[in-house]
Amino acid sequence: MSKSLSVQFVASEWNIKIDKVIDMMNNKVFVRSTSFYLAIVLFFVLIYSIHILSWKTMTESDTKPITTQKEEAPRTPHTEAQTVTTKKATVTPKVPQNSVDCFRQNAPTLPDISSVNPKRGKSVFFHETSCISYNNGKISITARQACAVESAARLNPNLDVYLLYTSPGEIKMEGDESDLYLQALMKYDNVKIMHLDFAKYTKGTPVEELYTSKKLDNSLNSIEHASDILRYVSLWKYGGIYLDLDTITLKTLEKLKPNFASPESTSFVAAGILGFEPDGVGHQWADMCLNDLRVGFTGKDWANSSVGVITRLLRSICTTPVIPNMTEETCKGFKLYPTKDFYPVFWDKYMWMFQEEHFLDTLKLAENATATHNWNKLTRGIKINIKNVYIPYLYYAKKFCPNVLSECKEIF
Ligand SMILES: *[C@@H]1O[C@H](CO)[C@@H](O)[C@H](O)[C@H]1NC(C)=O
Ligand SMILES: *[C@@H]1O[C@H](CO)[C@@H](O)[C@H](O)[C@H]1NC(C)=O
Ligand SMILES: *[C@@H]1O[C@H](CO)[C@@H](O)[C@H](O)[C@H]1NC(C)=O
Repeated sequence: MSKSLSVQFVASEWNIKIDKVIDMMNNKVFVRSTSFYLAIVLFFVLIYSIHILSWKTMTESDTKPITTQKEEAPRTPHTEAQTVTTKKATVTPKVPQNSVDCFRQNAPTLPDISSVNPKRGKSVFFHETSCISYNNGKISITARQACAVESAARLNPNLDVYLLYTSPGEIKMEGDESDLYLQALMKYDNVKIMHLDFAKYTKGTPVEELYTSKKLDNSLNSIEHASDILRYVSLWKYGGIYLDLDTITLKTLEKLKPNFASPESTSFVAAGILGFEPDGVGHQWADMCLNDLRVGFTGKDWANSSVGVITRLLRSICTTPVIPNMTEETCKGFKLYPTKDFYPVFWDKYMWMFQEEHFLDTLKLAENATATHNWNKLTRGIKINIKNVYIPYLYYAKKFCPNVLSECKEIF
């Protein structure tokens, strides 16, 4: 058979088939049976889609919160809305990274500071005011924050060291690095990791209204401002010492004067490390700080509510307005320690703490210091690989927070 013939044959056969189908379509039996089969097919499609739908909703409510929690890095308004709508008992809805919204969320917390009586004048306070723990669904801490707490606890066995979280969240040991740091801290009898209910804590203090009126929530740096306010509240309530969470304690704090601070320049007194006695004139001074905040807090000016407060206090209690002239004699016993005692590596050299080439310079600067404040605002993004031996920050960590550092796997 030639090629053209075979093509012709197939074509004609095809024509016959089409003719048959047309014939059948005219036949009522065919029409009746088609609708019968169509009904059966539709029935199965229906059953199948119901099955798919119920499976989808089931997996959505079970697995989605876990994936949003783990995968979502930058929080956009879109993902926030999503997590809120899929909220279940086990799910933590995210709050914006720069807000204090978590303070008002009703979620499980650590035991509250109001359930204990801190030793008056014998306590050290650290405040963690971000919502990171809440967003993580449990209490979390960075290596450097944990180092601050361990170094204070180690060198001051007679002081209780409070690490207070304003965000809800409980300690859950699941083996991540943060859990190991918390575990290292909890080995110290004098470390107390607790919740701080902002409303309860500030109730009856001069700054109560800053929170109830939402002035704090609406401020430009609400997380920092929460910390600026709380340091004075803690010292007003219990006296003692406040330390920023980026400080390493290098010497005992137990011998410091009961009322102290340290200048950060010739025009400002710094607020990262402060001491007030619980009673008497120290308490009056803490009260003056809270009233300064009550009157002047706008939420717009970071410096005015932090270093501004302690600077104005000293200007008002000392007989001189000039910081270099402020002495215990001119300031009714309030002690301004030299800047090099607490801020030995000053912020214009903040990188030195992270640089091998400044290892010896840095150690020299801090050789007589009581503590070193490390300018977290500028340095929090800098990662230190723990294999680098001659990084000053690591040198101090090895010496002053060895248990935390030993849990550190790669980056400090
Ligand atoms: C800073 O605070 C003080 C007192 O709290 C207030 O009198 C002053 O107006 C404030 N300054 C600014 C620029 O907000
Ligand atoms: C500050 O102290 C210096 C040196 O003792 C003195 O000369 C100066 O007058 C003082 N300034 C004020 C405003 O008290
Ligand atoms: C530390 O103290 C010693 C002894 O008093 C002194 O010689 C040295 O200059 C001090 N170092 C610094 C950086 O202040």
